[in-house]
Amino acid sequence: MINLNERVAVITGGASGIGLGMARAFGTRGMKLVLADLDEELLHQANEELRALGIAVQTQLCDVSKAEEVDALAELALSTFGQVHVVCSNAGVGLPTSARNIKLSDWEWILNVDLWGPIHAVKTFLPILEAQDMGHISATSSVAGLLSSQMMGAYNVAKHGVVALMQSVERELRAKKSHVRASVLCPGPINTNISRHSVSYRPGGGKPKGDSQKAGKTAQNIQASLEQGMHPNEVGELVADSIAAEQFWILTHPKWLKLVQKQYDAMMDDRSLIRI
Ligand SMILES: NC(=O)c1ccc[n+]([C@@H]2O[C@H](COP(=O)([O-])OP(=O)(O)OC[C@H]3O[C@@H](n4cnc5c(N)ncnc54)[C@H](O)[C@@H]3O)[C@@H](O)[C@H]2O)c1
Repeated sequence: MINLNERVAVITGGASGIGLGMARAFGTRGMKLVLADLDEELLHQANEELRALGIAVQTQLCDVSKAEEVDALAELALSTFGQVHVVCSNAGVGLPTSARNIKLSDWEWILNVDLWGPIHAVKTFLPILEAQDMGHISATSSVAGLLSSQMMGAYNVAKHGVVALMQSVERELRAKKSHVRASVLCPGPINTNISRHSVSYRPGGGKPKGDSQKAGKTAQNIQASLEQGMHPNEVGELVADSIAAEQFWILTHPKWLKLVQKQYDAMMDDRSLIRI
């Protein structure tokens, strides 16, 4: 088990939802925190809440889709706390869109945040962790990184990419006999404001038009499932415990793996794509 007390964590998308749940869980384990987000007001609220609990915290406006802003985040973390031990590349957006009708600008936005964000985190922070030969880098994927449902094409592509990225990183670290570890968080439905935030960040604003009826129905179903979802604080606790235990797969809803298993079985048996 790794002792997280007095260690330094950087969390992107740390001002709300799952990232804030991680911040609370890490802070109560004695970690010092650097929270990065695009939303200044939410960052301010998170800062106030965590400081009131006696947690050492620094916040930074940062767009994870921009490599130079992720570099600046690392510089801030090092200049504030001297070291970085845990990095959670968690910022993300997602809106229902069909793989056929989605606008190129929406493809670019979703991939830039959800896939390039973790790529930038690996590029910037992994050399820092490796130079110390100590630490952990985690990225937030999704169940959508393991199974691809309809009407979530760009999100599925990005989240599958994150799973592939973190497996590649972990295998390379093991091959080098590094003491640095990697992991991937694949949440099922979590009760956060991701849908509302994503609509507000989408280039051009608002919900995607075009395949509106089907996308609208999917959005309603997703919203209903998020509202019934796990509390982000529970996810934070799970992430903290999994990092301390050096686990690679961090799964909030492991029962969903039965569907993944079913898909692998169908690949072996009759090469079919299962219904999900
Ligand atoms: N909520 C769920 O059910 C669920 C399920 C699976 C995976 N996830 C993933 O969990 C992660 C966190 O999402 P959440 O549900 O907590 O949503 P959230 O909207 O509460 O938190 C995401 C945070 O990321 C920030 N953000 C968005 N774009 C950014 C950018 N370009 N740079 C920096 N910050 C940015 C937002 O301001 C927000 O604070 C995302 O990667 C999401 O895809 C969520």
